[in-house]
Amino acid sequence: MDSNKRPDDMVRITTKELADKFIEEQIALIRKQVGDGKVLLALSGGVDSSVVAALLIRAIGQQLVCVHVNHGLMRKGESEQVVQVFRSQLGANLIYVDAVDRFLDKLAGVADPEQKRKIIGGEFIRVFEEEARKLTGIKFLAQGTIYPDIVESVGVKAHHNVGGLPPDLQFELVEPVKLLFKDEVRVVGAALGLPDSMVNRQPFPGPGLGVRCTGAITRDRLAALRESDAILREEFDRAGLTKFVWQFFTIVPDYRSTGVRDSKRVFDWPVIIRAVNTRDAMTATVPELDWAVLKKITDRILAEVPGVCRVLYDLSPKGPATIEWE
Ligand code: XMP
Repeated sequence: MDSNKRPDDMVRITTKELADKFIEEQIALIRKQVGDGKVLLALSGGVDSSVVAALLIRAIGQQLVCVHVNHGLMRKGESEQVVQVFRSQLGANLIYVDAVDRFLDKLAGVADPEQKRKIIGGEFIRVFEEEARKLTGIKFLAQGTIYPDIVESVGVKAHHNVGGLPPDLQFELVEPVKLLFKDEVRVVGAALGLPDSMVNRQPFPGPGLGVRCTGAITRDRLAALRESDAILREEFDRAGLTKFVWQFFTIVPDYRSTGVRDSKRVFDWPVIIRAVNTRDAMTATVPELDWAVLKKITDRILAEVPGVCRVLYDLSPKGPATIEWE
């Protein structure tokens, strides 16, 4: 039987009971596969790698070594949450790598979106490889591969899978959620006790905020992006929108616009709000947001985020617009 094919009669995991059963089965399978071997996992903090980490912690505890690379393109508070949940609450063996300067230095002056993606992906592999080489006796690599990643040749997600490691660093793979769909992974995550904000996290691109700070990334615009995105998320939560909008974020483009503050002319950044609903990310519509919510977000961004004088709401569906701006 092809182990990468979901059996036709496989029950869809929709309840805590079904998730508990899956967890029990996987724990037995993981223990059987790895014995007393050590397993390495790149833990981004996204749903899939987080669920795999929590499963492996249950199954093999300290035999799992998680590596979290902070590339400086995470949303506000995300790296901190990974450390808090996995190291402090779950007692995981977690290596936290502060690679912020390294990534931002490499990206300095690079404006081409595909080049930026390549640098971020390539640097991620290099940082992960360096960490892996410092460790001894690792035989296995765990990955948050899910069923759509196997079925779709071009998946939405490419960042979890640490393919591209050099030939002398090839490990046997441990992929406990590879036959699950995203909604099932979330049910399993909740059953494992992961926080709601992690389990129900919206999709986040591998290159992170890097593709939302358009053109050549600068630290001031990246800070404006992170702060405005945090305000947007807070106000969406407050307005009860988080469950009804598939993906939402802000963008800070690489051009300024004129404004006036304290009777003086300023030349500051615009912030663009993007919110979309979609089934499969191939097409997307823009939700009609309540004017009062948009106004509150606008007022807060203008008052709280330095260097911003204008806020816009992107009304473009996909297509012709893509969800991300680059
Ligand atoms: P677009 O912008 O193509 O986005 O309409 C569709 C979905 O894919 C995500 N996206 C990415 N995810 N690496 C990723 O892992 C990427 O380079 C990337 N670019 C776009 C986007 O956030 C949306 O959910």
